[in-house]
Amino acid sequence: MLKAAIFAGLVLCLTTDAAHLRHETRHKRESSECPKECLSNPLEISFVVDASASIWPGNFTLGLNFIEDFVNIFEISQTAVRVSLVTYGEVVYDQDDFGFADYSNNQDLMEAISNIPYRSGIMTNTSGGIWHMLNKQMPEAREGVRRVVIVLTDGNSQETALTKRAAKDALDSGLEVFAIGVGHDVSPQELHNIASDDRHVFVVSAYHMLESIKKRLSYEACNIPTQPVCEMDPVDLSFVIDSSASIGEGNFSVGMQFVKEFVDSFQLNPSAVRVSLVTFGEVVYTEDAFGFDTYTDKKDVLDTLAGIKWRHGKETNTGAGIKYMQVTQMAKARPIAAHICIVITDGESQETEQTKEQAKAAQDAGIVMYAIGVGKIGEKLNEEELINIAGDTSRVLTAENYAQLNLLKDSLTDITCQGILQSIESKASKFRE
Ligand SMILES: *[C@@H]1O[C@H](CO)[C@@H](O)[C@H](O)[C@H]1NC(C)=O
Ligand SMILES: *[C@@H]1O[C@H](CO)[C@@H](O)[C@H](O)[C@H]1NC(C)=O
Ligand SMILES: *[C@@H]1O[C@H](CO)[C@@H](O)[C@H](O)[C@H]1NC(C)=O
Repeated sequence: MLKAAIFAGLVLCLTTDAAHLRHETRHKRESSECPKECLSNPLEISFVVDASASIWPGNFTLGLNFIEDFVNIFEISQTAVRVSLVTYGEVVYDQDDFGFADYSNNQDLMEAISNIPYRSGIMTNTSGGIWHMLNKQMPEAREGVRRVVIVLTDGNSQETALTKRAAKDALDSGLEVFAIGVGHDVSPQELHNIASDDRHVFVVSAYHMLESIKKRLSYEACNIPTQPVCEMDPVDLSFVIDSSASIGEGNFSVGMQFVKEFVDSFQLNPSAVRVSLVTFGEVVYTEDAFGFDTYTDKKDVLDTLAGIKWRHGKETNTGAGIKYMQVTQMAKARPIAAHICIVITDGESQETEQTKEQAKAAQDAGIVMYAIGVGKIGEKLNEEELINIAGDTSRVLTAENYAQLNLLKDSLTDITCQGILQSIESKASKFRE
């Protein structure tokens, strides 16, 4: 059910956004598979945009391009979707702002956004921007129409407490507030203070990566997802794969094909889902391992997965694989992302105690562990060990043989999605006061 809804959501709301087409289509509405009514239903969208000096002109333009592309999927008119915008630095640049009533078609709105000047403010007065939106622009909003605010910033405001107060005023007056943080200096704490809830917080590594959140943001803004869309959430996803002799080359490649198809269902990019992998036999095959930052391109990850070699390991040293994943790979995971690890094995490890210890250490470090056992329980597979690896029976799946792994795909999607959402929620709660 959950999964069906997720994919229905994906299909419903994909926007076609090939980067190379962006410039030609800038002044033409992009086609979108969002339901038409979602794009033309009355909606007020307010942008509050950081124009402080730390951003630099090139990045500011990338930010404006993103806003243009985003608003352009909607039908802009006085009866459908309307947009306001304000920029801020040490003060609010009210000379540059525009309100809901100012633009009545896509073309004029896009033009106006692209003409917003970069003022290179010497401070980040986020509260000023929010209060300006709330007190000067929102009063023009149509009665009974949904109001969405998008705050785009590259860093921390100097006045954290004031920012929090301004955001609280906005939330208290019934606005739905998204906080988008760009770059490494942004404080998750502040983003969570600004946003309505965790699903309204977005973090991207750089301005050129904003494109990567466009789909998820449009889902949320369209209010389509009553169901989570976790393939776009920030996730660092690790695979620990048994490469021991008993599996055989053919079965190993069937297993890797399964991993590849599963990974393919996520939105891989440095702002959303990142993947790492390690294989093991009697040792860890570090020469085949790759980390979260090894590849930035989805295609490179999928190609690499297809080429991972079966090492016919003499033993099944699952503990060593898990340890490598935690100590070497997860050490580079993003603090804000969900940390997920999927272990696939065809049998009991030689060192059951060590496996248990390493799995426990990974679970204690906040990694949500999953175990997939391939084989017959009681023959080669030890159910207790699978439970030890995962930490809970609800995160254990088994298939009788590699050919039947396919049957697990839906269940694996469901349970990893649950783990992702729980993990993000528990992290976010730490950032909230
Ligand atoms: C923020 O901007 C507003 C409006 O321009 C201004 O009145 C206020 O003094 C600024 N706040 C700070 C802390 O500089
Ligand atoms: C903005 O651009 C500069 C170079 O033009 C870059 O060094 C910096 O990291 C960028 N900042 C963000 C937040 O993307
Ligand atoms: C794959 O596994 C099955 C048993 O699960 C076994 O009969 C078969 O020989 C294996 N194939 C290869 C190529 O190792």
